Amino acid sequence: MSNHSRKDIEDRFTEACELHSRAEFIAAEKIYIRLLEQVPATGMLHYNIGLLYYQTEDFKKALVHYATARDLAPQDSDLLFNYALCQKKLGQLRDAALSFRELIQISPNDPDTLYNLGNCYKELKEHKKAVKSYRLVLDLEPNHLPAIKNLAYLFHILDDRENALDYYNRVLHFDPDNSQAIHMISALTGAHINSTPSEYIKDIFNSYSENFDEALLDGLKYAVPEKLRSLFDALDYPVKSFSRCIDLGCGTGLAGNEFGELCKHITGIDLSEKMIEKAVEKGIYDVIQVAEITKFLKGKRDEYDLAVAADVLTYLGDLDPVFAALTGATKKQALFCCSTENSDQPHFHLCTTGRFAHSQDYVLKTAARYGWKAVNMTTTTLRKEESDWVEGTLYFLNKI
Ligand SMILES: C[S@@+](CC[C@H](N)C(=O)[O-])C[C@H]1O[C@@H](n2cnc3c(N)ncnc32)[C@H](O)[C@@H]1O
Repeated sequence: MSNHSRKDIEDRFTEACELHSRAEFIAAEKIYIRLLEQVPATGMLHYNIGLLYYQTEDFKKALVHYATARDLAPQDSDLLFNYALCQKKLGQLRDAALSFRELIQISPNDPDTLYNLGNCYKELKEHKKAVKSYRLVLDLEPNHLPAIKNLAYLFHILDDRENALDYYNRVLHFDPDNSQAIHMISALTGAHINSTPSEYIKDIFNSYSENFDEALLDGLKYAVPEKLRSLFDALDYPVKSFSRCIDLGCGTGLAGNEFGELCKHITGIDLSEKMIEKAVEKGIYDVIQVAEITKFLKGKRDEYDLAVAADVLTYLGDLDPVFAALTGATKKQALFCCSTENSDQPHFHLCTTGRFAHSQDYVLKTAARYGWKAVNMTTTTLRKEESDWVEGTLYFLNKI
C-alpha cells in the first residue's frame, strides 16, 4: 500500500469515527464497510463496526465483527467485555458466562465483569453461582446497589430469609423509598397489610412488561386466561355474549385476548403503563387506560355485564373494597371471572412471594355480602413458582 493510500485510509477512518461519535450511524457504517474491503484484517475497524451494530441493536451482526476483532486481539479486555455483553443480548447466556470468566483471568478485579457474570448466572437460574459473583462485586465495591438488590432477590428465591432481609434492608439504606424492598420486607416478616402498594405494582410490572408474555406463558406455564375461557365455554351459563366487558389488571392483554371475542365492547385497565403499552400494540381493547382498579370502578355505574380479573386479586389482598366498587359498576346478572391463589388461613394472607392468597370461604363470603353467587369454582394450578406449582381457584360469580 502506498503512503498516499494509507493516509487516505486513515483519514476516512477518522471521518467514520467522528460520524460514529455523533451517532450518525448510517453514514459511519457506509465508510467502515468500504474500508473493510480495502483493509479486511484490521481489529480496530471490526471493533468499531461491532460497536456500531451493538448501539443500533443489530446484535447478530455486532457479534460477527466482535468475533473477528477478538481473533485479531485475543487479550483485549474491552473487546472481550463487549463481545460477552453481545452474547448475553443474544440470549447466549452460557457462552456469555464463559467469556466473562475468561475476562476475569485477564482482569480479575473488575466489578463490571463480575456483576455481568452474576447477571448471566441469575438469568440461567444458577442462583448460588450468581450470589458468589455479586458478593465478589461487593468485596470490591461495597455500595454497588444493583448487586445488593440482586442479592436480596436471590436470597429470597433461595428461601434464605435472614440474608434476604439483610440485603433488602441494605437496599433501603441507599434507597429508602424502594417499593420492592419495602413490600418484600413486609412479606418476609409476615406483616399484616391489606393490599399491595401501587408503586410496587408499577415498578414490578413496568420492568416485567418487555418479556412478560414469554416469561409467564413459557417460563411459568401461566394458563389462567386460557383456563378461565375454556371453563366458561364448558359452563352451562345462559349468556354466551356480552355487551360491555371490563378486564381488570389487563396487563399485556392475555385475558382480553380470550374473552374479547365474546364482547361487543371491551375495556382494559392496569396500573402499569408499560403493560398497557404492550396491550395497545395487540389492539384487543376498545378502551384502554392506566388506572387503579378500585378507583376506576368507583367512578362507574351499572356499566359492565362481564368483568375479568386473571391473576390480579393476588395483588389486592382485602377484597371488600373491590367487590364494593365492582358491584356498583356492573349490571344486574353480570358475570365476574377471576382467579385467586389458595390460602390455608381463614381469610387472606400476604405470602413470602409478595402476593396474596385467599381462602375460598373468604372469597365466597365477601362476594355474597355484595350479592354475588358462585356459578362455578374450580381448583387448579395457576402457574409455576420455581419448581413448584401454585394452586389456586377460578371463580365464576354471578351478581344476583
Ligand atoms: C400477573 S399480571 C396479570 C395480567 C393479565 N390479567 C393476565 O392474565 O395476563 C397482574 C396485572 O395486574 C395489574 N394490577 C395489580 N394490581 C392492580 C391494581 N390495584 N390496579 C390496576 N392494575 C393492577 C398489574 O399491573 C399487572 O399488569
